Amino acid sequence: MAAYKDAALKEAKKVLSFIEKPALTEDDKKMIVKESIENFNQNVNPGWLEYRKSMSTDNACVEWTDTEEHFTDLYGNDFIDCLGGFGIYTCGHRNPEILKYVKAQLDRYALHSQELVDPLRGYLAKLVAMITPGDLQYCFFTNGGAEAVEMALKLARLSTGGRYYISTVGAFHGKSYGAISMGGKAAYREDYLPMIQQVQHVAYGDADAMEAAIKNLHTVGEKVCGVILEPIQGEAGVIIPPAGYLKKVREICDKYGVAMILDEIQTGMGRTGTMWRCEAEGVTPDIMTYGKAFGGGIMPITGIIARPNMWGQKLIDNPWLLGSPTFGGSPLACSAAIATIGYMLENDIPQMCKEKGDYFMEKLNGLKAKYPTMLKDIRGAGLLICMDFPAAEVGYAVVKGLFSRHVMTSGTLVNAKAVRIEPPAVIKYETIDIVIEKLEESIIDAKKEFKL
Ligand SMILES: Cc1ncc(COP(=O)(O)O)c(C=O)c1O
Repeated sequence: MAAYKDAALKEAKKVLSFIEKPALTEDDKKMIVKESIENFNQNVNPGWLEYRKSMSTDNACVEWTDTEEHFTDLYGNDFIDCLGGFGIYTCGHRNPEILKYVKAQLDRYALHSQELVDPLRGYLAKLVAMITPGDLQYCFFTNGGAEAVEMALKLARLSTGGRYYISTVGAFHGKSYGAISMGGKAAYREDYLPMIQQVQHVAYGDADAMEAAIKNLHTVGEKVCGVILEPIQGEAGVIIPPAGYLKKVREICDKYGVAMILDEIQTGMGRTGTMWRCEAEGVTPDIMTYGKAFGGGIMPITGIIARPNMWGQKLIDNPWLLGSPTFGGSPLACSAAIATIGYMLENDIPQMCKEKGDYFMEKLNGLKAKYPTMLKDIRGAGLLICMDFPAAEVGYAVVKGLFSRHVMTSGTLVNAKAVRIEPPAVIKYETIDIVIEKLEESIIDAKKEFKL
């Protein structure tokens, strides 16, 4: 028997007892906090905890349970979630109307045989085609956002025969090799070069620059297969392109026979006030990615949908040509996504995002008018909102102040100049008022600290 067996078995049993227990003792809690820090430092990454705001208070905050608009730590402290897992929790945390179907599916079968017809995948594909614009029709399900982007990139080459991609400066599409090749930030690319060579980055929001890049490549004999864009750049700090930009890009793609890929992983599923951002812009892409909120904040599931003109005979003859992820579109994940679509339609989640986003923006603009040296800009669509501070340290101080007042937002020590607010759509109006009150207190503190 291997030497590690006894120790590892004992460790596993200890953790399983924590998972199973209805209530932890004070000693359990102390042990979990201490061991979690040790485990992260020794077996995840010694740098991981360093800059997180959840470590910046006296007691490291270890998440243990969640519900609706809250995370709760081991000690029962609630945190209002204004980060929303960067867009995962649009339907809230463990929404019971989604969870019950996932539990029911779990009691039947969780993963698929890989051989039989798994019905939920087909039903989900049909539903996605029903809720996406135009003639978007064929779906391929994956597990993570970057993986969905890989499929979109491969499909663009497969269907057009072109090789070059046009992406944008500031873009974020994930960190797998293909996806990061499209990424618009040097810090995440330079250590891995060379990556996909056939990609040119143009300024975001500039349709003329996009056309010039395609035209020049075609003039020298290089064929462009796809343009990839976020309809609003999320990670870059909620950058909303000029009105009509997506429509112009659509026209350019049609003119040059290039596939238009819209990455709706963050902007989709109601987040920006319509089910998809491209809907608000009156544009149908050739290929669209989705993820994050798609699994209802309960299961990871992502995917692509493409128009029939993208789905050529070669792919029909060999359905695994694009990819064959073992877990992609598992019954459990599909049950979550189907329940999410049902919940979103029944409760008009996109409209909820719009109304609550407008309410948030009005209050935030009030704070901006009151504290102009602190809040430099507020922008957003629906519940994808961003606040700009004069410097990263100032933003970090505000985020830390909010966290100590039990409001969670995004922003790390490394980057907090632009702080995103992406709460669940189900956030209550009273809770938004509390967030604004705590934000004002945190702004006042940081204003004093930095003498602004
Ligand atoms: C627009 C966009 N595309 C792709 C991704 C990558 O998704 P994942 O982290 O699930 O790989 C993200 C993640 O933030 C995103 O915002």
